[in-house]
Amino acid sequence: MSGSASAPAAAARPRLLISRAVFPEAVAQLAAHFDVHCNADDAEWTPGELSERLTGCQALLATAGEPIAAALLDAHPGLRAVCLMTVGFNNVDVAACEARGVLVTNAPGVLTETTADLGFALMMAAARRLGEAERYVRAGRWTKWGFDLLIGRDIHGSTLGILGMGRIGQAIARRGALGFGMNVIYHNRSRLPADEEAPLGARYVDKATLLRESDHLVLVLPYTPQNRHAIGAAELALMKPTATLTNVARGGIVDDLALARALREGRLAAAGLDVFETEPEVPAELRALDNVVLLPHIGSATEVTRRRMVGRAVDNLIAAFTGGEPPTPVSTAVRDAWHARRVAVGR
Ligand code: DGY
Repeated sequence: MSGSASAPAAAARPRLLISRAVFPEAVAQLAAHFDVHCNADDAEWTPGELSERLTGCQALLATAGEPIAAALLDAHPGLRAVCLMTVGFNNVDVAACEARGVLVTNAPGVLTETTADLGFALMMAAARRLGEAERYVRAGRWTKWGFDLLIGRDIHGSTLGILGMGRIGQAIARRGALGFGMNVIYHNRSRLPADEEAPLGARYVDKATLLRESDHLVLVLPYTPQNRHAIGAAELALMKPTATLTNVARGGIVDDLALARALREGRLAAAGLDVFETEPEVPAELRALDNVVLLPHIGSATEVTRRRMVGRAVDNLIAAFTGGEPPTPVSTAVRDAWHARRVAVGR
């Protein structure tokens, strides 16, 4: 992945910073429009390093990992667009961008099915104790078959609970209902229209009912400050001791330490976690447990999907700087504020 893909007339082009190493084809495509500066080593930049590298840039291609705060925007008043290669945008102060007419786009839709696959796999791994079973074999502990060896919990015919019924939630519900004959219940800010609920046989319930009735609860809600620790000690106490909990949404939605306590004390059977509040640090309390499957935030990690995520950000960015309409702004308000500034600066 190249360090600088600037072409001869680069000086006349808007300066673009790409915060992570991405596919060379994407860099080449962008180099036709921008003076591109990349994080070729995929180094983890501190906020100060990000700010330093953003000097003179009009555009930033980033992920959900780089904090885009008001102070950063104020330090770079020339910045006009932040295009994320991820669907999550909880790292961006959207209101601050809107106030300054900075466009923010994300990459919804392109990772739905891939993330649903991983969520379902993780739920199954937790329920059927796959991580534990694999470690058992690798450690040479498997000496005989037994009726009570690594007994897990059924997926088929059980109750799948979904907290956050957006695109990914619905894709997981579909897998559960149509593929595994699961009874689907869900809770969401708003109820789905009847024609979307019906094919899933999904039943809308309040959050407490969801927690009490789920055999396998999957979290797919976006992170907001209000959702921090949406699953904490009180919520875990409502769940069946035989239930599993899977989080493929965002770290911080679950109180990881409260979860570790519930798992350790047998108040919850198992968990599958792809995201953590302190990632990439994973609390020792979780790492010490056998009944939790731990993954390094790989929900969308397939080649095709990662290319689509980058592609979506590239499309947004090129549209923004060539007079087009960026396909996926994070909100209409942010798009309108950016349009107003675009008119003002004449581009
Ligand atoms: C996303 O797209 O938000 C994924 O979680 C990767 O960060």
